[in-house]
Amino acid sequence: MDKIRIIGGTRLEGTIPISGAKNAALPLMIASLLTDGTLTLDNLPHLADVAMLQRILGHHGVDYMISGRRAGQDEMCGQTVSMTARAIVDTTAPYEFVSQMRAGFWVIGPLVARMGEARVSLPGGCAIGTRPVDLFLMGLEKLGAEIEIDGGYVIARAPRGLAGARVTFPKVSVGATHTVMMAATLAKGETIIENAAREPEVVDLAECLVKMGARIEGAGTSTIVVTGVPHLGGAHHRVLPDRIETGTYAMAVAATGGTVFLENARAELLSAALDVLRGAGVTVEELDGGIRVSRNGTPLLPVEVETQPFPGFPTDLQAQLMALVTMAKGTSHITETIFENRFMHVQELARLGARIFLDGQTATVEGVEKLKGAPVMATDLRASVSLVIAGLVAEGETTISRVYHLDRGFERLEEKLCRCGADVSRIKG
Ligand code: UD1
Repeated sequence: MDKIRIIGGTRLEGTIPISGAKNAALPLMIASLLTDGTLTLDNLPHLADVAMLQRILGHHGVDYMISGRRAGQDEMCGQTVSMTARAIVDTTAPYEFVSQMRAGFWVIGPLVARMGEARVSLPGGCAIGTRPVDLFLMGLEKLGAEIEIDGGYVIARAPRGLAGARVTFPKVSVGATHTVMMAATLAKGETIIENAAREPEVVDLAECLVKMGARIEGAGTSTIVVTGVPHLGGAHHRVLPDRIETGTYAMAVAATGGTVFLENARAELLSAALDVLRGAGVTVEELDGGIRVSRNGTPLLPVEVETQPFPGFPTDLQAQLMALVTMAKGTSHITETIFENRFMHVQELARLGARIFLDGQTATVEGVEKLKGAPVMATDLRASVSLVIAGLVAEGETTISRVYHLDRGFERLEEKLCRCGADVSRIKG
């Protein structure tokens, strides 16, 4: 298995292009199941999760056409993929797919809406908490699907089609919002989704569905109204920039010092995180075509942060922020409210010399003068990139094993950092 080797201590200077958002790309690709037309997505990131989902969707009958790179095009630019599900050839999503990527479960919405049935494996346990699917099932049941659980599979049936309904989520869930919104586009009548997730990726999916002929209002607010239509068609859509990748590199620059332009980044997608960085003494400037982040000589200040659904501080940046404030001048408190067990980076950061104390869902981080390189292990996607940030500032060499977690969600991470002067390399193994 590959490892990443980092020699810390270099300031980051330069430009990092921000890729298309993984968390938008996945539901957008799944939306291709809703139509026999062709859905073309631009700016699709080159990621292991995207490739995995291509396999899953191929199993259901989605044909792919990947456009080649044009001469002179930047290597870092995303791919253009056309997807056509002329016929759904299989309505079963097997365990070997869904267990590898939880978003694979989301196919249940489009499949039951278009085909009147879906048999989708339960995702199983996950490193960052139990992550149940009760909200998905509640939402689909409200739309008239009959749900049965048998042999580790959820079987959803709606032989006469789904019917619009009021779906009030007791808790905000991104995946359940995507799934119910997709299913409702083909249901008869009006669906009102209350306490919907307001994440930018939900808005991106809604915009694409509208281009496909869906009638959706209110995406980006907590009430989404979907009026079902009998049929959706193809569309052409560009995946929005990745706000988590943006925040991650912003924190990396904040940690090492230096100035980096995050090209294509959009500040309004991560205002809460940028405000936290400003509060920590980092300079963040919103410019045409991107965001410039710098810290040149000013000390890092401690933070008080609680993760929240959008527009709050994202749980997907919690580990990276923690890595950053391990070197703040003072004590920070970071509370995780979205997922249990999302503190697996803590013991790895401690191996580099960080002083972090956990009490329930709150981490107290006492800033230290410096971190020192060591071998560490990636445990999940966001935790692993927090170790990269720590490795970039730690004195000496840090090696991170199990980097397949990183490849799931960060495109060309080493290249992007090396372009800015970092000493990061991949050791093939
Ligand atoms: C998505 C993101 C993930 C991010 C998370 C929260 C993708 C591919 N993944 O994950 O990166 O960390 O949003 O912003 O977009 N829950 C239930 N029952 C359910 C569904 C969820 O209790 O049926 C709970 C979860 O356990 C969790 C909370 O709701 O505590 C939020 O999870 P959710 O928003 O659903 O996360 P995902 O959509 O899986």
